[in-house]
Amino acid sequence: MKKTILLLAIVAVVSMLFISCGAGTPAKPKIGVTIYKFDDTFMSYVRNTIEASAAAVGADKVELSVQDSQFDQPKQNDQVDQFLTQNVTSLAINLVDPSAVSVIIEKAKAKSIPVVFFNREPAAADMAAYDKAYYVGAKAQESGTMQGQIAAEYWAAHPEADLNKDGKMQYVMLMGDPSNSDAAFRTEFSIKAVEAAGIQVVKLAEDTAMWDRVKGQEKMAAFLAANKGKIEMVFANNDDMGLGAIEALKAEGYFANGKFMPVVSVDATPPALDAMEQGTLLGTVLNDATNQGKATFELAYAAGSGAKEVVTSVAPLANADGAADAAGKYVWVPYVKVTAENYKE
Ligand code: GAL
Ligand code: CA
Repeated sequence: MKKTILLLAIVAVVSMLFISCGAGTPAKPKIGVTIYKFDDTFMSYVRNTIEASAAAVGADKVELSVQDSQFDQPKQNDQVDQFLTQNVTSLAINLVDPSAVSVIIEKAKAKSIPVVFFNREPAAADMAAYDKAYYVGAKAQESGTMQGQIAAEYWAAHPEADLNKDGKMQYVMLMGDPSNSDAAFRTEFSIKAVEAAGIQVVKLAEDTAMWDRVKGQEKMAAFLAANKGKIEMVFANNDDMGLGAIEALKAEGYFANGKFMPVVSVDATPPALDAMEQGTLLGTVLNDATNQGKATFELAYAAGSGAKEVVTSVAPLANADGAADAAGKYVWVPYVKVTAENYKE
């Protein structure tokens, strides 16, 4: 008799537990995050903000797991499988290779798990294939245009920058990963903006340094050796490569005794702002890691909590083109031009 009562009591308690956890909404949202590689300066700032946002909400209210995909798409696919097996309530994915997005969308869709992509934009058709797919990012064209404007303004104010006095800007370009649309757009739109300002350009060299500081230094050293005294402007698709280029320039006697080279990059990381302070980096463009990380976390948290309205405090939802749209699934974080006038802000 006693045993039966005990058993009934246990059954009652266990079923109460199940009832309280039921009703569709998860007791505690669990977010699975992947970063294309931890060893990327800009993405490390985005990751820090995602982690800080989760910490601010509190470990009792949200569980966060962040994985390093180590620049390996099959590895990232495995990480997504593991997250789904662990019953995450939402995913936040910084793709290694955007062309692999349909695999991830299929996996998430099969379990009806919302997924927030960030920094690497999936194709519009893939995004449209799943109503619970979101994207947080920035329009890379914009950053390229701002780089070109910084270069053009400098050129107009400094006639001595035209070293060979041919009226044209001889430039070199350090590209990020060539398969990354941010790299392609920045390369294209920076030069378009220079030309739009009425300045003719001559490309002396262009090569990828894969967003990497050491590679940026090596490529710039090679550019300098092959184009002695001819380079008048350096564009780098990100700060790390620009800072690498500055190291190579210093080794050739630049930034001392009045010898200057304008270098323009993107991201506005703290080391890049230090370089502006030292007068080596001419300008950069703020790629807003804080707001991108915040928007990514807020969307993943809202979607993973089963919230009716999946929104973020960073910016209103928009469509793929950038137009505000309450039913949109995109959050566009604006770039900001950073020059000597405003870098301290
Ligand atoms: C860009 C950023 C680069 C690099 C890249 C990775 O937006 O400017 O520094 O982090 O993303 O996809
Ligand atoms: Ca010239």
